[in-house]
Amino acid sequence: MSLRFGKQLVVVASSPEAAMGILKTHDHLLSARVVPTSMKQAHLLPHSLMWSECNQTWKTLRTLCRTELFSAKGLEAQSQLRNEKLSQLLDFLRKNQDEVINIEDVVFITLFNTLSSIILGKDLLDFNDAHGTHDGLKESLHKVLELSARVDLGSFYPMLERFDLHGIRSGTMKLSDKLSAYWEDIIEERRVQVNSSAWSSEQAHSFLDRLLENRFSKDQINQLITELFIAGTNTTTSTVIWAMSELVRHQEVMSKIEEELKKEINSHEITSFQLSKLSYLQACIKEVFRLHPPVPLLLPHKAVETCVVMNYTIPKNAKIFVNVWAMGRDSKIWDEPLSFKPERFMDLNLDFKGQVFELIPFGSGRRMCPGLPLGVRSLEFILASLIREFDWALPNDDDPLKLDMNEKFGMALKREMPLKLIFKQKQAYQYA
Ligand code: HEM
Repeated sequence: MSLRFGKQLVVVASSPEAAMGILKTHDHLLSARVVPTSMKQAHLLPHSLMWSECNQTWKTLRTLCRTELFSAKGLEAQSQLRNEKLSQLLDFLRKNQDEVINIEDVVFITLFNTLSSIILGKDLLDFNDAHGTHDGLKESLHKVLELSARVDLGSFYPMLERFDLHGIRSGTMKLSDKLSAYWEDIIEERRVQVNSSAWSSEQAHSFLDRLLENRFSKDQINQLITELFIAGTNTTTSTVIWAMSELVRHQEVMSKIEEELKKEINSHEITSFQLSKLSYLQACIKEVFRLHPPVPLLLPHKAVETCVVMNYTIPKNAKIFVNVWAMGRDSKIWDEPLSFKPERFMDLNLDFKGQVFELIPFGSGRRMCPGLPLGVRSLEFILASLIREFDWALPNDDDPLKLDMNEKFGMALKREMPLKLIFKQKQAYQYA
């Protein structure tokens, strides 16, 4: 499908064949980005990982993230931190049993603190401080992403762009300043230490230390950190919340996961090796990605050259979306596409790592999400731990089948209504 808005042609691909043409066959020509109005800021854009063309800066940043943050070695080194943040979440739920919890807030705090400990060497949010999320950090991160998706007249008529008619650029600037204020002091304090003559590389314990050792400037660090938080926290939180919503509604699926956990996990802490054996939980996660992909249209791609995909000409500079949300609900691809049936994946050798175009929640090709290993590891840990230790119920004994599953559609796919649950420790845990 293609649409024209002013001078901008928008192409939307909604089939696995078209997705493969765009993200694999012609990946080298269709992997630039249409820079959103929000990012057209001279001091930010050259340092962007998300919005740069596939240029040298982009390659360097991706390589740095892959080796330092998302490699098998990196993930292993982070396991202690991940366990710590997870324990804080479980502790909080133990202490607040029988209370109604907005689970999205506390999962967000857990994921945000995990990432901030890995990146900055510090937690930034506190479970006991209700302002941890309401202070606006969560909303600000979400809003920056949403402003990137916001269309304004300037994107269709470039002569109007400099007027910032809808205030998108100025709004993003204010948000970026607000966000960087959260970590500015940490960066500067650390910069003094890394630049001191007493510093040795063995002291480096966070991603920030590596950036400072490599002489990254303030703007470079701010932009990269902001993008990692934006890309990494809301997506993973949203997937956990959709998974929990589906599990609340499907008690039979929940019971099967509980059985699997009893069989495969026999230690206090869950290990990565044990997680790799949870094939039914993994099938559930695939089913959640199919029905609720957190980035429903991927991030917009741009054609650097005119090319032909499935006999359809995509002109140079066209903006391209891949509609993974529609593909996940297409009855030509899936039986009973609107039913939540993890079993469909049990006998299918199908993963979401970008090779099978029916299921590409992380995209595919050179722009594919670099954070996949960290995102999936976090998802599995959180879900397995919450299911193993707690029974979950809706407030007021509400009927799970009536749980509101409406979506709020945007660059990120969220629940329209927050998911509120009551947690009760399972009997086996009560005296442990
Ligand atoms: C459930 C978890 C996640 C999902 C479903 C997800 C999905 C995606 C998708 C669909 C894209 C765009 C791909 C494209 O445009 O073709 C993307 C890009 C990106 N993601 Fe993720 N993501 C997740 C977690 C993470 C995490 C944990 C991080 C890092 C901490 C991260 C960092 C990024 C970055 C930096 C990009 C931009 C890459 C580029 O433009 O080259 N993501 N993600």
